[in-house]
Amino acid sequence: SGDTTFKNALKIPETITSPSNMIAQAVQDTVMDGKNAKYIGYRSGLLGPTFRLQKGANFNIKFSNQLAEHTNIHWHGLVIPAEMDGHPDQMVMPNENFNYQFTVNQQAGTNWYHPHPHGLTGKQVTQGLAGFFIVESSEEKALNLPNGSYEVPLVIQDKRFNTDATIKYSPTMMEIMSGYMGDNILVNGTASPYLNVSTRFYRFRVLNGSSARIYNLALSNGANFYVIGADSGMLEKPESVNSLLLASGERVDILVDFTNIALNTEVYLENKTFTGMGTAQGTQAFKVMKFIVNKQETDTFKVPSSLISLAKLSNATKNRSFALTMDMANMSGGMHKINGKIYSATRIDETVAVGSTETWEFDNSTGDEPHPMHIHGVQFQVVSRTGGRNTILPQEKAWKDTVLVAPTEKVKVIVKFEQKGKFVFHCHNLEHEDDGMMLNFEVK
Ligand code: C2O
Ligand code: CU
Repeated sequence: SGDTTFKNALKIPETITSPSNMIAQAVQDTVMDGKNAKYIGYRSGLLGPTFRLQKGANFNIKFSNQLAEHTNIHWHGLVIPAEMDGHPDQMVMPNENFNYQFTVNQQAGTNWYHPHPHGLTGKQVTQGLAGFFIVESSEEKALNLPNGSYEVPLVIQDKRFNTDATIKYSPTMMEIMSGYMGDNILVNGTASPYLNVSTRFYRFRVLNGSSARIYNLALSNGANFYVIGADSGMLEKPESVNSLLLASGERVDILVDFTNIALNTEVYLENKTFTGMGTAQGTQAFKVMKFIVNKQETDTFKVPSSLISLAKLSNATKNRSFALTMDMANMSGGMHKINGKIYSATRIDETVAVGSTETWEFDNSTGDEPHPMHIHGVQFQVVSRTGGRNTILPQEKAWKDTVLVAPTEKVKVIVKFEQKGKFVFHCHNLEHEDDGMMLNFEVK
């Protein structure tokens, strides 16, 4: 399905290093079949700019909501004060403004932002509201990784379109069960994209910005590639992989080697089928985007043997367990539950002592659906996965904020809670989240 000719040049979102304002608004863009159509976005087209800030920098923007409905911005992966986090309580009404102001106080990593209005997150993200937030540090700079035009952010999203090229988002009951699946795969808001590349190493920061679809990413030439980072930080050392799973909300930072590829070779980033993630996921193989190797260049870059030092969290003083379940009696709303509950704006579900370290276990042992679980206001490390894949994957050996819990699995993460206030944690399958698979916790 969709356009598989890969003839549209990959769009690269504008990079902003000194941010000042943002507007959520109706935009025009040409995305599908050359048709100009109306979407929502943060600039002139789909999606938003890439913010690129140094560790220690101040971020200060005036955000203006020019949509017809409430929205806000959640800074996914950033550890910032609760009042700035974009909790579903903190809505910006139409024609109102809000100043997001915080210090970027964390290690280099690939974070992102998107709206978080309860019940409308899937719709607003799918319609076009999302962007990258990259944090850089001197420690990372010293690695001399590919940069400039050799460092490319890629946000992968699947969407369905109406005949007038507007985006169709009206999840059916089946999609509330399994998640919205589009039949067109877009990268950076580009349908059927290609990117011309040189005979070099490239760094790709890949974000799964889809509502629900999990990708099993691989290269069509069968080559391995190197995982150097995940979610909010880098790995201690690169890990060579042939394919990797990336769930909604997760990011992976990879190095791809085009150095020895003959000129005019086409290499695809593709999605391979996979099993063990419920009946709706992994059934289709397809191409995501095309790389055309069309420029000879000399590259002296060598994949470093080590990257950064990663302090391991330990000595958790408490464990909390969260049962992820599906209740077929609530097909018309509220079927996806955490510990038997659906989201309530007025209830605090967990209270955590500030400064404490805990383990949180996500228990999907009775489930049929995969759930990428995301915790706001913190970063965590994955400590164990049992009852299924029984391993910690290369793309999980870094500071994480979202972890994929497959059916039958229990995944335990270790977290230090350093920001006071009220936050949410939830499934990042956005239809599950909007259906209520989200709880509040308060750190005090
Ligand atoms: Cu990217 Cu609460 O979400
Ligand atoms: Cu889920």
